Amino acid sequence: MKHAPHILILAAGQGKRMKSDLPKILHPVLYRPMIHHVLDLALSLPHGKIVVVVGHGEEKVRAACEGYKNISFVRQEKQLGTGDAVKSATKVLGKEKGSVLILSGDVFLLRKESLLTLIQNHFNTKAGCTFLSANLPDPKGYGRVLRGLEGKVLGIKEHADASDDEKQIKEINSGIYCFDIPLLFGALKNVKASNKQKEFYLTDVLEALVTEEEKVEAELIEDWQEILGVNDRAQLAFAEKVLQKRVNHGFMVEGVTIQDPESVTIDPRCKIGVDARIEKGVTLINAEIGERSTIKQGSYVDNSQVGADCSVGPYAHLRPGSVLKDEIKIGNFVEIKKSVFERGAKASHLSYIGDAKIGKDVNLGCGFITCNYDGKKKHETVIEDGVFVGSDSQTVAPVKIGKNSYVASGSTVTENVPPDSLVISRGKQVTKKGYAKKYRKS
Ligand code: UD1
Ligand code: MG
Repeated sequence: MKHAPHILILAAGQGKRMKSDLPKILHPVLYRPMIHHVLDLALSLPHGKIVVVVGHGEEKVRAACEGYKNISFVRQEKQLGTGDAVKSATKVLGKEKGSVLILSGDVFLLRKESLLTLIQNHFNTKAGCTFLSANLPDPKGYGRVLRGLEGKVLGIKEHADASDDEKQIKEINSGIYCFDIPLLFGALKNVKASNKQKEFYLTDVLEALVTEEEKVEAELIEDWQEILGVNDRAQLAFAEKVLQKRVNHGFMVEGVTIQDPESVTIDPRCKIGVDARIEKGVTLINAEIGERSTIKQGSYVDNSQVGADCSVGPYAHLRPGSVLKDEIKIGNFVEIKKSVFERGAKASHLSYIGDAKIGKDVNLGCGFITCNYDGKKKHETVIEDGVFVGSDSQTVAPVKIGKNSYVASGSTVTENVPPDSLVISRGKQVTKKGYAKKYRKS
């Protein structure tokens, strides 16, 4: 698409109804701040500048968006309404030509395709403003779209200011608009806070554009869930569910089996290979899962990579920085942190492996633990290719076990072990025949 509008994201509001110390747009949705989803959407579109209007909790919002380069922030000193919020971007956008797409920090379910259509139609019709509208089963609280002869859009009336008749209108303003920049900032100068809420309404600009004979177009969106905004925690839960369903569906379409999608949460940044199987109650956060791998019930994979043909879980926990190459088996109640497993390695039961390098075809027995922390620092454990570690063993890091060695069950390995060795470090067994019988009688 050759049209690349500037994008302005309104995110200065407090979100009072969340009853939270955290700014509304920082509440997590699929394990990331809500605003990240909106920023990702903005970045996925052809765009000029991306500008975020911040106010409430500004420092926290800026800090949470640090990872995003090439976006800028403007401050709205006082939250006087959406019109005032846009006005606070005058310095960075006021002199630009072309158009601006206005998004809202709490509306994250919009599809890229819907916005592309909005932008394209805005350019095609050369309207002064094109906005997304929707027919809502329950339009309460939203601005209503006023239409005149032949459906011509005349303006938007806020719920608080609407007459009883106007409140019957089901078509609402989504708060997502494309504006011609000079027309927008020109009209904003004349907007007054003369309404029930004593706010400067962005929506008043539309009426001005209509009377100035500039076209205002409403683009009716089919799936009304796309424009849902989040005002309270119940709406947050609902909207997150909608997103979860959509993300899971997207992966299934691409050839991933999801056993019980209702119970599975996958962050949309994940990459999952064809014929992978994701079982009930699994959570995947910024994870990569290779082809034909199975993540079994109740497992949690956080910022980690799983190769092809692996089996993980049930109830395994891969913490950030875990890398499993191909054909790895991780069994139940195994926790792994910041460790690399080379091809064919196994940890099948009840283990903790942290800050470790595990070589090819290593077998870590049941209950194996890397003691990686001395109370002050974390240390590394290296277990080279082909090592067999018997059950109920520990390594006290820093330590290295050389290639193809054996660690006898119940050992605590504190010193480096050369290749091809057997290491046993446990109390020698003493058996006293008949002792138990005598003891019971005494
Ligand atoms: C707004 C629209 C309404 C529309 C609805 C859709 C106006 C006057 N009304 O109403 O027609 O149906 O959105 O959800 O625009 N914000 C600021 N600074 C402010 C006020 C708001 O940055 O001073 C931000 C908020 O953080 C939010 C967005 O603007 O992201 C919308 O504000 P909100 O108060 O939720 O608008 P509504 O009253 O819902
Ligand atoms: Mg409001």
